[in-house]
Amino acid sequence: MSPPPALAVRLGPLELPNPILTASGTFGYGLEFAHLARLERLGGLVTKGLSREPLAGNPPPRIAETRGGVLNSIGLQNIGIESFLADVLPGLTDLPGKVIVNLFGYELDDYPRLAERVEPCAGVAAVELNVSCPNVKRGGIEFGHDPEVLERLVAAVRGATSKPVIVKLSPNVARPWELGEAAKAGGADILSAINTLLGMSIDPWTRRPRLHTGRGGLSGPAIRPVAVRVVYDVARRVGLPVIGIGGIETVDDVVEFLLAGASAVQVGTALFRDPRTAERLVDGLAERLAALGLERVGDLVGAVRPWEEA
Ligand SMILES: Cc1cc2nc3c(=O)[nH]c(=O)nc-3n(C[C@H](O)[C@H](O)[C@H](O)COP(=O)(O)O)c2cc1C
Repeated sequence: MSPPPALAVRLGPLELPNPILTASGTFGYGLEFAHLARLERLGGLVTKGLSREPLAGNPPPRIAETRGGVLNSIGLQNIGIESFLADVLPGLTDLPGKVIVNLFGYELDDYPRLAERVEPCAGVAAVELNVSCPNVKRGGIEFGHDPEVLERLVAAVRGATSKPVIVKLSPNVARPWELGEAAKAGGADILSAINTLLGMSIDPWTRRPRLHTGRGGLSGPAIRPVAVRVVYDVARRVGLPVIGIGGIETVDDVVEFLLAGASAVQVGTALFRDPRTAERLVDGLAERLAALGLERVGDLVGAVRPWEEA
């Protein structure tokens, strides 16, 4: 009998026991889900976004369901980096999967300051930078929408930490790979894609936007084809390992992202319906590899077949 397929993957300097992670903002800080899911089955978990100070977030309503997706404007509510490091991280250290902290700020300097804080923490395997945030010193343009600013931001983080740096790309730009190239030039090790798509929905009866803030971020199955396209373009053009994110629910979805060029994936909105989705995908992926007669996850990465084959 052939040995079971190996699920372990390596993304540059980051090794994961399997390629299934939970996405930032959809699984709290991990511990809240310990009684609902088997955290030890995950390849890794990405924390809710953390800032230098705690944030209360936006007024409700902050979540609205749409066909095939969810709109949110949580406003990056979080407990702040200090509280996370003191109260939450110690409870996450015994997991085989990797703990990745998602960081964001409102000034460029917030990012290296946050990276410095997690640098001495052995329980943190990598940092993921949420650069889909307004740069208050630059008229509110998102850091991740300006290649020059993004390169400087990533370089500043690179100088502050020896941990793997993951840069999370926004889909709300015309050429996402240019931002991926800027992140690479700044010293990023890995790219993750995509963050939410900017959207809006209005209740036809109350005439009010369904979110208090009007606009919000769209996630869920509705954005999956956009995410697959961004992963495909970025993986081929930039040459850094990519973590695919966007509407993943089934093993087929995972395989689709791997074929497009992702080396691992994050599961987000699907966890709202079933917090065990990610661990089920770990088992499902192992079964799929065995059924395909493949020994490694890497055999699928970037293996999409063009129509014009000899
Ligand atoms: C309620 C909610 C909160 C989120 N919070 C964050 C966050 O704090 N930082 C971040 O980088 N992404 C955040 N995201 C984006 C997700 O991590 C993910 O990129 C996106 O939802 C697409 O994946 P999905 O379709 O599987 O949910 C959030 C998404 C949702 C739905």
